[in-house]
Amino acid sequence: MNSIYEYLFGDHESLDKLLREASEGNGGIDMKRYCEFRQGLLRHIGIEEKIVLPAIARLQNGRQVEVAARLRLDHGALVALLVPSPTPGIVETIRSILKAHNPLEEEEGGLYRLIDQLAGDEAESLLDRLESAPEVPALPHNDRSGILEITRRAVERAGYKPLF
Ligand SMILES: [Fe+2]
Ligand SMILES: [Fe+2]
Repeated sequence: MNSIYEYLFGDHESLDKLLREASEGNGGIDMKRYCEFRQGLLRHIGIEEKIVLPAIARLQNGRQVEVAARLRLDHGALVALLVPSPTPGIVETIRSILKAHNPLEEEEGGLYRLIDQLAGDEAESLLDRLESAPEVPALPHNDRSGILEITRRAVERAGYKPLF
């Protein structure tokens, strides 16, 4: 059986790969790949916010991990970046956030190791819930005027630099 760590770490790797593939061509952004990335990242964030963080708090008798607030801010910025149609600058900004964010979850003492340690005999049923988590319905991109400004603010609020 896979561990929860392995499942979520593998998710990071496939999302990184999709984002790389979406933006490596010379002809701009590959929208098919990008949409797979967008769907996958929304689902991944949903799993962390709705299953992993609540399970950790419950298994620690109501005590949430310190890093939870940081992770939620990052998730907010990432979700905001998925709203407008992608540009190379938006893709770069997403990449820069993931580069700082994913290690907080993957590293020794990070979120994923912690949930594995705490899960105990719940490990299998938790992993089941992760694996069977449904796709999150994604709205079409929204490019109304002012949207980029809103997106920039969400990025800055989380402490990152908007590269668009
Ligand atoms: Fe995350
Ligand atoms: Fe993650």
